[in-house]
Amino acid sequence: MESVRVLGVAEADEMARQLAKVLPPRISAPFTSAFVRSSTLFDEYVDGLVLSVFRAVGLTAATRQGGTADEIVARAGFEPARARVPVEWILRRMGRRGILERSDGGGPTRFRLGAELPELDPVSVREEQRRLDPSWLPSYVLAETVAGDYPAFLRGERAGEEILFSPARLRLWVDFFSNDNGLYAVNNSVGAGAVEEWLPQAPVTVVELGGGLGSGATAVLDALRRAGRWPGIREYRFTELVPAFLRRGQNTLQTRFPDASFLRFAPLDMNRPFGDQGVAPGSVSLVYAVNTLHVARDLDFTLQEIFHALTPGGRLVVSECVRTVPAHVIYVEFIFNLMETFRAPVLNPSYRPNGGFLTPEQWQGAMQAAGFADVQLFPDIRRLRTNFPDFCVAAVSACCPA
Ligand SMILES: C[S@@+](CC[C@H](N)C(=O)[O-])C[C@H]1O[C@@H](n2cnc3c(N)ncnc32)[C@H](O)[C@@H]1O
Repeated sequence: MESVRVLGVAEADEMARQLAKVLPPRISAPFTSAFVRSSTLFDEYVDGLVLSVFRAVGLTAATRQGGTADEIVARAGFEPARARVPVEWILRRMGRRGILERSDGGGPTRFRLGAELPELDPVSVREEQRRLDPSWLPSYVLAETVAGDYPAFLRGERAGEEILFSPARLRLWVDFFSNDNGLYAVNNSVGAGAVEEWLPQAPVTVVELGGGLGSGATAVLDALRRAGRWPGIREYRFTELVPAFLRRGQNTLQTRFPDASFLRFAPLDMNRPFGDQGVAPGSVSLVYAVNTLHVARDLDFTLQEIFHALTPGGRLVVSECVRTVPAHVIYVEFIFNLMETFRAPVLNPSYRPNGGFLTPEQWQGAMQAAGFADVQLFPDIRRLRTNFPDFCVAAVSACCPA
């Protein structure tokens, strides 16, 4: 069992000190003691929600007698196609905490509830978070809202997409995908640091994929302006699949950067050929995306479209939540496992063996298979993961050979 608990102040101070020594200086600032402690608080909060879902949907009875995830899904009477991934995730989360016994005797992991379920107290965790850093609270609200609808989802009564993206819930996403959300902002600041690090020679033509509500683009444009790199930008094309997100993202960016005459806005579906959507082959020097490529229906297809859109010497930079090892169960997956595009993409045995987030090695394999060279991570999770097994934010970049 890994050690899973909320860190005390002194331990979080120490971990932040250690992180500052190993992170690239360009991106180290947000990884403070409060960030480290908040991560462990949110982890604890999600486990509390997981436990409440576990009880509510009858998994207590279904796990008394040991079984694989498939057997437990069948015993609980869930629809396997949608429930398998989230239920296995729940079982692994509880195994990680020592609530379920796990046995990995060669075949699929078996899980068994041996003792009584513990009581976790999400309310006091949330209050502690409020005192420590209230900027994390939008993530709590989103996770709690999703938890309320998990039983209906697992029983097959409601689609995950309907739960997550009903119009009434747009506000939750606006607050979540935001540079004011302490949990999410690091994805944008790491991405912006990576773009600064790898920005190709001017003049630069950028296409951002899945730009959403514009928080990732805001962080990049702020960073490039501070670094005096705006004169080198010929075009920054902000693209997005969902029309309501695109409109909102456009509005945010045009309001914040009225002088950015290089900004363009267009719909783009990364699951369809880019050439049919106004992105000509060999026309782009930088493709950028924050937490978007892992929901590509067929990652191989999307990476090849990106590869062909790039000029020789052009770069792909993606800021992603990264699994440190294949078995890493990351807290935000509790939310995103409801999305079919997240949990069930086209698989590839070597670099896409499952849905959700990828490991450094899987990103490297996927990018190399599409023809990319010089795959690099920023920060290099492979060097960090022994000492920081839960550090899961990184940018991955690769080059289209000249
Ligand atoms: C993690 S969000 C990105 C958030 C964004 N950086 C922001 O600041 O709001 C991922 C985005 O990918 C978009 N997306 C999902 N499927 C897509 C597809 N097939 N093509 C392009 N974008 C897609 C989603 O609509 C969402 O806005």
